[in-house]
Amino acid sequence: MKSSVRIVEVGPRDGLQNEKATIATADKIELIDRLSDTGLRSIEATSFVSPKWVPQLADAADVFAGIQRRPGVRYPVLVPNEQGYERARAVGVDEIAVFTAASEAFNRKNINASIDESLQRFAPVMERARADGVAVRGYVSTVLGCPYQGEVPLTDVVRVARALHEMGCYEVSLGDTIGVGTPGKARAMLLAVASEVPVNALAVHFHDTYGQALANVLACLEEGVAVVDAAVSGTGGCPYAKGASGNVATEDVVYMLHGLGIETGIDLPRLADTGRWLASKLGRETGSKVGKALTTT
Ligand code: HMG
Ligand code: MG
Repeated sequence: MKSSVRIVEVGPRDGLQNEKATIATADKIELIDRLSDTGLRSIEATSFVSPKWVPQLADAADVFAGIQRRPGVRYPVLVPNEQGYERARAVGVDEIAVFTAASEAFNRKNINASIDESLQRFAPVMERARADGVAVRGYVSTVLGCPYQGEVPLTDVVRVARALHEMGCYEVSLGDTIGVGTPGKARAMLLAVASEVPVNALAVHFHDTYGQALANVLACLEEGVAVVDAAVSGTGGCPYAKGASGNVATEDVVYMLHGLGIETGIDLPRLADTGRWLASKLGRETGSKVGKALTTT
């Protein structure tokens, strides 16, 4: 395993995009600012998708314009097309993430496009990003199963991950969107992708629907992955993935990593405080076991 791991905190985006209640723009800004004070180096701030598709993040521009950008912290945002790119650039975004899936059925529901159409849609975005010096991350969803198609062949996962990397994504995040994976399958998927894309350009993104996310993260760390997506307080889910539940909680990943002697640069008590603060804003208990334990010890 690597001696240091970078966490990509996706709570402000993946965590909030699926919440039922409306969350105030000021609370989203406070969440990101609090996360910036924990030592996190990458915080996915919001999403410049169609507000008709994801109303929860319709205030993306105000959120991004309102945060205090700490030097050394990256603030990527989701961008589905050129329109999203323009909206993001207008408020000074300098890192974006494009997203597609290994399942045709899911892509149709989520972004109203086939896999190949989505890749074609990204081409002009990638070109503009290159010209503007904007870094681009890529996501492949449904890498361990699809709510509409069921099994997803590994060859499709590898093909899409490789296509994103070849288009210029500096990192490709492999998403178990509905959290159905188990460690053996996660490891096999990672190894298959790593045979075509360098492992140091890969990240893993596990949802915890079946309680397997932390075990899946560990399996992938053992194969050399050094970038892990996670959401503070275990929030998250995709509105277009039936059955998707929260992401692996950042607090739980950090506790495990520190226990393994792996450095993250993150102040865990401060992160756990932020997770409990967010949970109180959402009107529930924190979804992180570590977050809960740290209040009682
Ligand atoms: P479409 O309806 O096919 O697009 O949606 P369109 O180009 O025909 O546009 C329709 C309307 O949306 C138009 O407005 C556009 O202007 C507007 P109208 O003329 O009707 O008034 N529009 C936009 N507005 C603002 N910003 C934009 C934008 N684009 C179009 N960027 C589209 C296609 C891709 C836009 C839509 O399907 C969409 O926004 N989908 C996003 C769904 C989403 O955000 N899902 C969650 C994120 S993915 C995820 O969670 C998985 C991940 O976490 C990894 C994992 O867990 O696996 C990343
Ligand atoms: Mg996700």
